[in-house]
Amino acid sequence: RHYRIAVIPGDGIGREVVPEGVRLLEAAAERFGFTLDLRHHDFASCDYYLQHGRMLPEDWRDILKPMDAIFFGAVGWPDKVPDHISLWGSLLQFRREFDQYVNLRPVRLMPGVPSPLAGRRPGDIDFLVVRENTEGEYSAVGGTMFPGTEREIVIQETVMSRHGTDRILRFAFDLARSRPKKHLTSATKSNGIAITMPWWDSRVEAVGADYPDVRRDKYHIDILTAHFVLNPDRFDVVVGSNLFGDILSDLGPACTGTIGIAPSANINPEGRFPSLFEPVHGSAPDIAGQGIANPIGQIWTAAMMLEHLGETDAAAAILAAIEAALQTEEGRTRDLKGQATTRQAGEAVLARFLG
Ligand code: NAI
Ligand code: MG
Repeated sequence: RHYRIAVIPGDGIGREVVPEGVRLLEAAAERFGFTLDLRHHDFASCDYYLQHGRMLPEDWRDILKPMDAIFFGAVGWPDKVPDHISLWGSLLQFRREFDQYVNLRPVRLMPGVPSPLAGRRPGDIDFLVVRENTEGEYSAVGGTMFPGTEREIVIQETVMSRHGTDRILRFAFDLARSRPKKHLTSATKSNGIAITMPWWDSRVEAVGADYPDVRRDKYHIDILTAHFVLNPDRFDVVVGSNLFGDILSDLGPACTGTIGIAPSANINPEGRFPSLFEPVHGSAPDIAGQGIANPIGQIWTAAMMLEHLGETDAAAAILAAIEAALQTEEGRTRDLKGQATTRQAGEAVLARFLG
């Protein structure tokens, strides 16, 4: 087993946490007997933009397409380059051009992490949010009529295709089927959004007919957000359109403590293009350069990438090391009320991994 991985740290704390993730990847390769060809790139960063006038080199598709996966840090430095340029010029290009139509985020309460939700213990909260990542509410169809006048009208259409909807639902049902609870929850709003959302519900029914072993239910997005906070133990796999999934995939990790430990994946399940793995957090300019960022989101991201590549034992071993490290003083950075530096927290996970 040999994997070619593009490593793109990006900006800010991305450059501090990616090396900690790489350390675990290399240790996992050695322990589990696979090899890694890591290709480090400085593009998709604001410094690259200031030097070259663009976020990516002309031939970025040729560079990245042959990779088995992309290991990404974070992009954005608003004082140097406006966010719409840095994000649209890099991450959003990858997602669209590489048809990464699944955005997957685990939501799990970990030991050692104080939950903002009273009375919840590790094990109580353990679910996955599956977000449609390419169409839906985030469309370019629309426009403004009579701009700047009293008659101003602004329109933006939701675009849902059967192809695009069914493939995200199938991914979510397959995922639910692979888990012990076999339970899928769909986010809807068919009472208010009376064309696209009843249709979305009908596709959940149609695709769900092929998964009689998966229990399914649905909630309107408004009450669903309340349940995330009040009854997070109720969920297993939660699937939503681009907008609803976006909201839920930030709310979920927030319910489990710090965004500093949360990972995410942008997946092209067919493997026609490389998938991209990144922590949920951004470049954190407020703490960048101090060596105090929590590296665990990036390390958990490494585990997610290995799982995607089929290295499930290595992924499980990294996750176990994270859980063990979080219960020690050396494993906790300031966002977790600890004193550890980025390096020390990364070292704590590595030590548990080597064990
Ligand atoms: P952010 O996630 O960078 O920071 C939000 C807050 O969480 C900050 O107070 C930060 O210090 C803290 N934080 C984040 N990660 C942490 C970690 N690993 N350890 C400890 N504390 C951590 O979000 P913000 O400030 O809204 O965005 C900053 C820049 O990052 C912007 O340019 C934004 O566009 C970009 N961004 C990029 C993302 C990506 O690459 N996927 C995702 C989110 C934001
Ligand atoms: Mg978001």
